[in-house]
Amino acid sequence: MASNAIRFFPLNTGAQIPSVGLGTWQSSPGVVGDAVAVAIKAGYRHIDCAHIYGNEKEIGSVLKKLFEEGVVKREDLWITSKLWNADHDPEDVPKALDRTLRDLQLDYVDLYLIHWPASMKKGSVGFGPENLVPPNIPSTWKAMEELYDSGKARAIGVSNFSCKKLGDLLEVARIPPAVNQVECHPSWQQDKLRAFCKSKGVHLSGYSPLGSPGTTWLQSDVLKHPTLNMIAERLGKTPAQVALRWGLQMGHSVLPKSTNEARIKENFDVFDWSIPEDLFEKFSAITQARLIRGTTFVHETYGVYRSIEEFWDGEI
Ligand code: A2P
Repeated sequence: MASNAIRFFPLNTGAQIPSVGLGTWQSSPGVVGDAVAVAIKAGYRHIDCAHIYGNEKEIGSVLKKLFEEGVVKREDLWITSKLWNADHDPEDVPKALDRTLRDLQLDYVDLYLIHWPASMKKGSVGFGPENLVPPNIPSTWKAMEELYDSGKARAIGVSNFSCKKLGDLLEVARIPPAVNQVECHPSWQQDKLRAFCKSKGVHLSGYSPLGSPGTTWLQSDVLKHPTLNMIAERLGKTPAQVALRWGLQMGHSVLPKSTNEARIKENFDVFDWSIPEDLFEKFSAITQARLIRGTTFVHETYGVYRSIEEFWDGEI
């Protein structure tokens, strides 16, 4: 019988990644801790973090409390974090993970990702284009592989990598990336990257699976799409649940962000039902558009990438 227990996807390391994780980008300090506690009590076993989100300390305090209270065991949780662009120098990579581990009060992460294929000046803060420097992904990756060898990162991967960049990395990697975490939702389905990842045994993980409706500068209307709303109405589900369930049925993990208790629970109620074939096929007619364009990492003068097309290798 179908149950509302969490499902997993296998990684090339042999580990199983929980299919739904709580996103924490733009979850402000002061509310992120409660969100993590609510999520874990509701059954989430996967929290998606990053140093640059500025909230790992608060997440660490809550995790410690939940472990002490016996709400969840460390080994039953999946914690992802990400290496920031200013820490790409190989000697900074282990320091960056150590800082994240200190903040999260953990001795290992389940997955550590290169956050962006764009590098910024060592130790720089801020997103000014003058901070952009040429990336050397192979040397950063070598340092990531050492983190994997040390056991401090039980899996390593990348984020925001195009097919081209992922392919280039696979050519030189001793340990292939386990995951490529990218924007993915019904209005940006990543067909080409999905097929490439599948052919290489790299798991695709989808961020902004709801199209990031709270990000005002994106003016996203993913959840308002008529197809999503029609299917939601037919199935008696919300558009957000349909978007997430679509992701699971496509075979990728989804990382919805919420700091609202009801929506955190709603977003986890996606396991004991499915979108039937005749409705599922309607997703293929949805017009596609990338929302998160990485403009910060592109600059005509300073940039290593001089255009959005170059940054995504034409996959826009
Ligand atoms: P909130 O934190 O107030 O719930 P994404 O994961 O695609 O980046 O989207 C995150 C945004 O979507 C946040 O603004 C979040 O707001 C909102 N959100 C999360 N869950 C839902 C939901 N079930 N329905 C509508 N909006 C949601």
